[in-house]
Amino acid sequence: MSESIQPAAETPTAAKPDFKPDYNYKIVKQFTIMTVVWGVVGMAVGVLIAAQLAWPQLNFDLPWISFGRLRPLHTNAVIFAFGGCALFACSLFVVQRTCQTRLISDRLASFVFWGWQLVILLAAISLPLGYTSGKEYAELEWPIDILITIVWVGYAIVFFGTIVKRRTSHIYVANWFFGAFIITVAVLHIVNSMAIPVTATKSYSVFAGTIDAMVQWWYGHNAVGFFLTAGFLGIMYYFVPKQAERPVYSYRLSIVHFWALISIYIWAGPHHLHYTALPDWAQSLGMIMSLILLAPSWGGMINGIMTLSGAWNKLRTDPVLRFLIVSLSFYGMSTFEGPMMSIKSVNALSHYTDWTIGHVHSGALGWVAMVSIGAVYHLVPVIFAQPAMYSVAWINIHFWLSTIGTVLYISSMWVNGLMQGLMWRAYNADGTLTYSFIESVQASYPGYVCRFIGGAIFFAGMVLMAYNVWKTITQPSDQGASRLDNTYTKPAAQGV
Ligand code: HEM
Ligand code: HEM
Repeated sequence: MSESIQPAAETPTAAKPDFKPDYNYKIVKQFTIMTVVWGVVGMAVGVLIAAQLAWPQLNFDLPWISFGRLRPLHTNAVIFAFGGCALFACSLFVVQRTCQTRLISDRLASFVFWGWQLVILLAAISLPLGYTSGKEYAELEWPIDILITIVWVGYAIVFFGTIVKRRTSHIYVANWFFGAFIITVAVLHIVNSMAIPVTATKSYSVFAGTIDAMVQWWYGHNAVGFFLTAGFLGIMYYFVPKQAERPVYSYRLSIVHFWALISIYIWAGPHHLHYTALPDWAQSLGMIMSLILLAPSWGGMINGIMTLSGAWNKLRTDPVLRFLIVSLSFYGMSTFEGPMMSIKSVNALSHYTDWTIGHVHSGALGWVAMVSIGAVYHLVPVIFAQPAMYSVAWINIHFWLSTIGTVLYISSMWVNGLMQGLMWRAYNADGTLTYSFIESVQASYPGYVCRFIGGAIFFAGMVLMAYNVWKTITQPSDQGASRLDNTYTKPAAQGV
């Protein structure tokens, strides 16, 4: 195993003069544009529900736009629509580039695109109407679950089929992460969605009681581990070296990282069920596995960040690289915080509080959204055959809006979370509670306003990105790079 394998392992075949790559970029373009669209939509709903928590009058007494129905709409839109489209776009781009071959089937790829958009549309209709299975991050009812399964199988065939017909001997590590993400999400989705339908819009889980809870959090935690982590690590392993124009820091570490991460993540789910009816030994096992998970998580973060060693100066001039590297820093933060929160005595304080929400968004905004944004800024000029993004200055503004927005969001939730946890456990000398629950809600109000402001700032950056992408793809392709400034050099020569 070489320590200096290039991302994309593109060089050998690219050097052959008769090699004319003919990649399917149409599918990558479609998914990339929908990443931006669903990012704007999902985060707009996030800002609305953040406002509802600060100003409950915004529920307008209408069931369809009440917090309870919009919250799952937000989580589904940002995770599966925004995050999902980013993963489809990047994986289908990376697998072609690194295997130096076109997708195995254009028709099947197109089916995956339209099928996934249909799933999103059905979610956007059914969730506000109140149809839900009640399982977090798996709320969609059984007919939509079946559609997801069919689309996912199509995706797996396209991805693995392309790997099978690759023109390279090597399978670049990014594809390992994408592959693990595809297989594991399929297993998780099928097992957790097993249900007995009662009507076309209502079903009941085949599991009951504590087993149902355990299956749900085995799913929920591994949705984090494989959808929100392994897939995005695949993105990281291609786009960070590409944007930095450097080989990945240690290829050996990336392989160790891969096997350690996928073999440990799967055991950590019980940390969501501390102090419940789940047997105590299972809770403790979940805690131990979560603590061990710190090591592979940080191994991956270090591998990504150190890829820049010797080229740190690029961070000064390249805002796309800044997105990618700062996302890794947030990844490191949230994967330090997660193991801490899994310690039972810490979880006794953090559970049910806004601390969890802060942790979620340091991963979701800081890691998932920022690495996706960086990848989209890298991808758009490449797939739309433009020399660069329309405005690099706007990317820079976007970077700061995202960073400031994320920091405001997560720090306000940390303050709220600690305060709530401490207020709920405060006792008077006579054993009565010092604070009523509503007093803790009142005390949380400034934090909710601050979170709303942070979210709105992050959202403003997404709107700016949408406009920048629009201007980039509609400008005539000979319009030259960056008309507003010239501090940014074009990404690595794309080779093939
Ligand atoms: C402008 C950006 C965003 C805003 C303003 C926002 C706001 C919110 C709010 C207000 C909640 C409900 C919190 C509660 O119930 O107390 C929430 C939940 C959630 N959001 Fe976001 N969000 C944003 C972006 C994202 C992104 C990009 C992701 C994922 C990639 C995400 C994932 C989640 C998840 C998983 C939850 C559920 C958390 C839990 O149950 O513990 N959010 N968000
Ligand atoms: C080593 C890695 C990680 C560990 C050990 C970990 C651990 C935890 C723990 C202990 C909780 C609180 C459970 C509770 O009290 O209910 C939690 C919640 C959560 N974490 Fe993490 N975390 C990690 C990384 C991440 C990352 C990178 C993300 C996002 C990209 C993330 C997303 C979430 C979500 C969405 C929840 C809320 C689930 C819910 O209750 O709805 N985690 N995590």
